[in-house]
Amino acid sequence: MNSKYNPLFEQVTLPNGMILKNKIMMAPMTHSSSNNNGTVSDAELAYYARRSGGASVVVTAVTYVSDNGKGFPGQFSITDDSFIPGLTKLADTIKEQGAKAVLQIFHGGRLCPPDAVGGDVVSASTIPSEKPGSPVPRELEDAEIVSIIEDFGEATRRAIEAGFDGVEIHGANGYLIQQFFSPHSNRREDRWGGDVQRRLSFPMAVIDSVQSAVQKHAKSPFIVGYRFSPEEPETPGLTMEESFVLMDALAEKNLDYIHVSLLDFWSKPRRGADDSKSRMEWLVERAQGKVPVIGVGLIHTPDEALAALGTGITMLALGRELIIEPDWVEKIESGNEEHIAVHLSKEDQERLVIPDPLWNMILGVPGWFPVLETGESK
Ligand SMILES: Cc1cc2nc3c(=O)[nH]c(=O)nc-3n(C[C@H](O)[C@H](O)[C@H](O)COP(=O)(O)O)c2cc1C
Repeated sequence: MNSKYNPLFEQVTLPNGMILKNKIMMAPMTHSSSNNNGTVSDAELAYYARRSGGASVVVTAVTYVSDNGKGFPGQFSITDDSFIPGLTKLADTIKEQGAKAVLQIFHGGRLCPPDAVGGDVVSASTIPSEKPGSPVPRELEDAEIVSIIEDFGEATRRAIEAGFDGVEIHGANGYLIQQFFSPHSNRREDRWGGDVQRRLSFPMAVIDSVQSAVQKHAKSPFIVGYRFSPEEPETPGLTMEESFVLMDALAEKNLDYIHVSLLDFWSKPRRGADDSKSRMEWLVERAQGKVPVIGVGLIHTPDEALAALGTGITMLALGRELIIEPDWVEKIESGNEEHIAVHLSKEDQERLVIPDPLWNMILGVPGWFPVLETGESK
C-alpha cells in the first residue's frame, strides 16, 4: 500500500471502547429491495455481502420502527419481533465479511407515501413537505409521540437481539426526527415545539429511549450514532445556527458518533454561518473533539478522502462510491488504487451485485450516479 494512505487505515476507538479497523464507513443507502412483507430479502443480503469486506462499519439502509413510519416501497421493517430472524441474517452477512454492522432506524413522518401507511401520513404539524404533490400530514397527538419514542427503544432491543453492533438514529434528510427539530415542519406549541430548545425535545427523547434500551439489553459495547442534516432550504427552516445548538446538545449525549448528512462534503453554509468555511469544517469545530464526527458526500478517490480527513473528521462515509466500487478499501490496501472505478456502466448490474429496484433507481434519476452508456465501470 502507498504509505500516504496510512491515515485512512488508522484505527478508531469509539467512546464505548469499541475499536474500528479503519476510518471508512459505508453510508446508509436505501435500496428498496426488501420483500414486500418487510422482511430482509436474499438480494439485499448478496448486495451487502459484496460490500462489507473493506469498510470498518457498514450502516444499513434505513428500517422503520413504527407501522405508520414506512417511508419507501421495498423497505424492511423492525416493528415487530417476527422480523428478528431476517435482521439476524443481515447482521451476520455484514459481520462475516469483517465490518461492524450498524442498523439505521427511523420514522418517515410526512415523507411517507400515503399508500405505505394506510393513507394516514403523520408529522409534528400539519405542514406538508415542499415536494410537489406532498400530502397534508395529520398532527401527531402527545400519546402517539410517546409511543413512537418507545418504538425507537423497541427497535434498538430488536437490533441487539439480531446481533447488530449498533444503531444509527436517522435524524437527517427531512424525516420525522428532523420534522420535530425544524421550524418549518414543527409549529407546535406544546412540550414538543416552540423555540429551538423545545424543538430538541423529540430528538433528545428518542436518543434517551435508544440509550436506555442499550443499557437494559446489550451485553457488550453497542454503538449509538446520530445522523443529521445541517440546513434546510425553506424559510423558516433549519440554519447552521440551529445546527450548532443541535451539535452542542448531541455532544453531551454520550453518543459514539455524529454523522453529518451532506450530498457534497465541501458544501458551504447557506444561512447561519459565514462561507469562509465549509459546513463540515464549522461542525467539526463546534464538536470540540467531544464526540467523533463523520463526514460524507461526493468523495470518490483516496486522495479526496485524505483531503476530507484533513478537516478533522474522525471517519469518512462513502455512499454511491461503494455501490460503484465495492472493493474501494481493498484496492487501496493492495496498492491498486489506480483501478478504483468512479463511474458505473449500464452493463455492470450483475457484476456489482446490485438488486433490481436499486438498479432501476440508479438509472432512473439522471445525474444521481455517474453512469457510462457502455463498457465496464472505470
Ligand atoms: C441510493 C441512495 C439511498 C440513500 N438512502 C439513505 C438512507 O437510507 N439513509 C440516509 O441517511 N441516507 C441515505 N442516502 C444518502 C447517503 O447516505 C449519502 O449521504 C449521500 O449519498 C452522499 O454520499 P455519497 O456522495 O458518498 O453517495 C442515500 C443515498 C443514495 C445514493
